[in-house]
Formats: sequence, C-alpha cells, structure tokens
Amino acid sequence: MHKQKNVYQNLYEWYRANGRHELPWRQTDNPYHIWVSEIMLQQTQVKTVLERFYHPFLSQFPTIEALAAADDDAVRKRWQGLGYYRRAANLHKAAGQLADQATAKGKPATVPRDVAALMALPGIGRNTAHAIAAFAFHDALPVMEANLKRVLARLYAYENPSENELWHAAEQSLDRAQPYHYNQAMMDLGALICTPKAPDCVRCPLAVSCKGRNSPERYPIKKRRQKLPIRKRAILLVCRNKNSKPDYAVIRREGAFLHGLYGFIEVKPEVVSVPAQFIGNVKQAYSHFTLEADIFVVEASKADIMLPETVLWRNLDEFERLPHSGAETKILKLMR
Ligand code: ADE
Repeated sequence: MHKQKNVYQNLYEWYRANGRHELPWRQTDNPYHIWVSEIMLQQTQVKTVLERFYHPFLSQFPTIEALAAADDDAVRKRWQGLGYYRRAANLHKAAGQLADQATAKGKPATVPRDVAALMALPGIGRNTAHAIAAFAFHDALPVMEANLKRVLARLYAYENPSENELWHAAEQSLDRAQPYHYNQAMMDLGALICTPKAPDCVRCPLAVSCKGRNSPERYPIKKRRQKLPIRKRAILLVCRNKNSKPDYAVIRREGAFLHGLYGFIEVKPEVVSVPAQFIGNVKQAYSHFTLEADIFVVEASKADIMLPETVLWRNLDEFERLPHSGAETKILKLMR
C-alpha cells in the first residue's frame, strides 16, 4: 500500500462512516475484556460471539480473578455451543497463572503489556497477542485475522502468500501513528467491502493503491476445502431405574477432543446388541470430521459392554446442566 497520507485518510473516512463502532470490544479499554473477545473471535464469527457469548461470559466472569477462581465445569458450560473448547480451557488456565502471579506480588491480576509475555500464556499465538496489544494498549503492531489476510493478499496481489509474506505486508502497510484505528478499519474493510465474493472495489477507500484491483477474486487463490470424513458411531444411553426417573451412564472426556465435556457411552456401531432400543440419529460437524451416530437406550443389566470405572450416573436434568457438546444437545432433544 502506498503510504501516502491520503490513503489512510480515505480509509479512516470510510471507517468513520461505515465501521462497526458499536462492537462492545471496541467500546471498552479493559484488556481482560478485549482478550476474551479475541479468543472468542479466533474461530467464531462476530455475530455469534456478539449475540450469545461475549456478554454472558463477562457477566459470569467479570475479572481475571473471577475466571481464575471458577471451576472447570462452569467455564466450559459458559462456552457451550461456541466450539473449539480448548480455547476455554486455555483461557481459564492463563487466568489462573496471572492470578497466581498477582497474588504473589500482592497486586490485582492484569493482562501483560508486551507481546512476548502475552505469547507465553496458553492459547495466545502471535495473531492474538498482536490484537490484544493493538486494541488494549494501542501498540503499533499489525493485526492478522482471516479478513485482513484477504485484504493484504489483494492489496499486494499475492496469489498464494506465505505467513511471512503476509506479516511483511502487514508491517509495511500499518499506520504506526494510529494503529488502533488502522487495524479495526482494515478488519471492517475485509468484512464489509473486500469480501470473499463480489468485493465492492468501487466503494473501497484503498482502491487507488490496490494491486489486485482488476481481478480481486484471484487473490488469494482459494484452497479447495477437503470434505470432512464421516465417523459413524453408536451412542448408548445406558440406564438404571428405567421405570422411575432413570439415571444414565455419563463420562467426562479426558482426551484432547472435547476435553472436559460430558457425554454418553460411544461405541463402534457393530458393538450394539439386540436389547438396545433405537431412538433416532444425530449428525454433528466437528473441526476434523462429521459424526453420524445412531442413538440407543439400553438397560445397564442387559448391556453387553464394560463401563469405565469413572462412570457417573446422572438423570437427564442433571446431565443438561453439565457442559456438553452439540451432539448431546441433539440427543437430549430426542429424549424429551
Ligand atoms: N476478529 C478478530 N478480532 C476482531 C475484532 N476486534 N473485531 C472484529 N472482528 C475481529
């Protein structure tokens, strides 16, 4: 981008008139709130974060100390539906670290001021560290997220830019005098003008200095989305006291996938035997596969499987209050 003053001025003029100034993480200078927003926005659209997650999370955990003191289940329950649950676990762990450090010094917990210290926290990579530093502390650092990557690829006519090329382009075009406004404006430009399909170059304030202007949809070249593999499973609701209010066998997942979320007993479909009663099926897309599961209810005394030692017995109301993923939400619907 030509670093002429009027290019930035055009950008800010456009931003003043069209930017998403009302986003709540732009209405605050609380670094913890900005950090939470950036973690939520890593893999989730603005609309979802705004409408269902940002405010409830901060009402329940208004400070770093409050988040640090919360139990794992409460944090995951607040994250339920947002997906990529490792984000919640890392945020919680990072809050714990900051609260411990602060207690040792006898001070309130604060978000670290510099990028290296931010990146030392779980769940914060370079993109997020820059975003927190730029938005909470107004540091002169470029932000990099999906929209901005596309804007940069077009500005510099990169068909297939490497991360390094993008960072280089980002450093080159950054307005060091007004990094906060520059970064927010560039993100909005990506979201509102320089969209993946049919970008509105006629209204674009950066058009004069855009190398990709004549054929913006060429930049960057789209990678073909791999179709997600399908994982077929059976989910067994193994129950006790079938005739009164039944309890079901529930496990807390301990592996990397959906860590800390509760679920029912999952088996390969061929393991299911006759006494199990089929009640329906559910489909759920995760980041790296799509789950297709047939759901069965079976009495514990008739089930031909070994339950893990850590099994918990919970009725459906109790289960509903535990953090769980989208597949279990669908199963609960089938059972009601
Ligand atoms: N995506 C990542 N950070 C964002 C922000 N601060 N505003 C809008 N979208 C974003």
